[in-house]
Amino acid sequence: MKTLSSTSLKEKSTTMEVRVASSEDYDKILEFIRVHYYLEEPLTIGVDASVPQDRRDEEFSMSNIEHGTSIVAVEKDDILGVFLASPKNEDVAEHIKQEAEKFTGTKWSKILEILYRCENGANVFKKFNVTKAIHGHVLAVHKGARGRNIGGQLVEKAFSVAKSKGYDLFTTDCTSYYSAKLMERLEMTLVHKLAYKDYTDSNGKQVFNPPEIHESIMTFAKKL
Ligand code: ACO
Repeated sequence: MKTLSSTSLKEKSTTMEVRVASSEDYDKILEFIRVHYYLEEPLTIGVDASVPQDRRDEEFSMSNIEHGTSIVAVEKDDILGVFLASPKNEDVAEHIKQEAEKFTGTKWSKILEILYRCENGANVFKKFNVTKAIHGHVLAVHKGARGRNIGGQLVEKAFSVAKSKGYDLFTTDCTSYYSAKLMERLEMTLVHKLAYKDYTDSNGKQVFNPPEIHESIMTFAKKL
């Protein structure tokens, strides 16, 4: 991937396209999230910090593309942001739990365990009386292009694509202070909040220790 300086991206007048991601974007998106997502995402850097993201974590993120509900922002040949999202149904919490149990002890399993807690606590299918939803898993904007509302545009496009595919609910777990602020700006409804300090192991020790600005995982929902 070409590297553009932060300044040039910040100042560039926009010829940006925000569209559904396809299999042709696969390699570029993988390269993009390795640089602009995993190196900062609070769960990834908050547990087993010396270990990089699990291969299964990457595979799961990338598997979102095949559903036609993931969004990419591109300017010329450069990716400026992605929002990887896919369908889920009422079995999802149980499925996350089973995946976590398969890989016990790994970084991926620890991440799945906390996401299971959020999914269970949020209980969106009951709350919103639906049987299916689209869930946004990976939101990332190029480090040099933040603060241009690219995140907001990705999320709004994801809402309209989900709606056009017959979904009435969109949900997402914001592990980051910045993504939570963004969802609040888009008037998503906060349905669950889990503070990192309250998520402890059997010895009472905090499991995830991301940078201080990230205090909790906030789960948001939007009726489409
Ligand atoms: N670090 C420092 N400042 C930031 C960051 C960040 N990670 N993200 C946004 N900001 C700043 C912006 O520069 C902007 O500042 P300004 O008002 O002075 O110009 C302000 O916060 C508002 O930025 P937004 O436009 O709301 O954020 P943007 O859409 O550019 O990026 C995002 C938000 C996508 C969450 C970004 O922080 C990011 O890519 N983070 C790394 C990966 C990550 O943690 N993703 C979220 C995980 S949760 C999930 O995926 C659902």
